Amino acid sequence: MKFVVTAGPTREPIDPIRFLSNRSSGKMGYAIASAAIEEGHEVILISGPVALSPPVAARVIQVTTSDEMYEAVHGALAKTDVLVMCAAVADYKPAATAKEKIKKRDEALSLELVPTRDILKSLPKTRDYFVVGFAAETDDVEKHAREKLRHKNCNMIVANDVSDSASGMESDENAVTIFLGDGEMKKISRAPKEKIARALVKIILETSKRF
Ligand code: C5P
Repeated sequence: MKFVVTAGPTREPIDPIRFLSNRSSGKMGYAIASAAIEEGHEVILISGPVALSPPVAARVIQVTTSDEMYEAVHGALAKTDVLVMCAAVADYKPAATAKEKIKKRDEALSLELVPTRDILKSLPKTRDYFVVGFAAETDDVEKHAREKLRHKNCNMIVANDVSDSASGMESDENAVTIFLGDGEMKKISRAPKEKIARALVKIILETSKRF
C-alpha cells in the first residue's frame, strides 16, 4: 500500500525572522511513517520543521508553511491508498508577511490573522484513498473529535488529550482514542509513540479494507 503521512508543525511567517508555530515535535508522524515501512508499505513523509531523522526508506518532502504543506499533500495524492494527516498544521497565519523586520516600539502591536486553508476539508468527497485526521484537544476530547470526523471529511479521527503533559505533543508517549464514521470507537492506552504507531497502522489497514 502507498501511504502519505504528514508530520510536525508548520511555520507561518510574520516577517523575515519571526513566525507563528506550535509545539508539535513530529514524533507521532515519524513513528507512523516508520511503522508503515516496517510492514512493507511505501511512504511519502511530508514534514514540517522538526529535529528528527526520517526513516531511511521514506520519500521525504520538507515543507515550512501551511500553504507549502497544502500543495505537497495535493501533489502526493494521485497514487495514494492512505493519507494520515498527523501534522499540526497552523489554523491561522498572519494576514500579511512584512518584508522587513518589524521594529520594536513601546506601544502594543496587533497582528491580524486569517484562517489557513484546511487541507482535510479541501479533499474531494469522492475518492479512492482512506483519510485519517488527528485531533489534539485540551477539553471535551470525544465531542470535538466526533465533530471533526463529520466536518473534516475524514474516514477516521485519532484524538489525543494534550492537556496531559505525559502524553501528546512533544512527549515520547501518547494515548489515543480512535473514532470511526460508523460510530465505532477504539482506545489505545498510554504507550511509547512507536508502539501506538504500530497499533494505529494495523487499525488503519483493517478499517480501510471495509471502506
Ligand atoms: O481543526 P484542527 O486543526 O484541530 O484539526 C486537526 C486536523 O486537521 C489534523 O489532522 C490536521 O493535520 C488537519 N488540518 C488540516 N489543515 C489545516 C489545519 C489542520 O488538514 N489548515
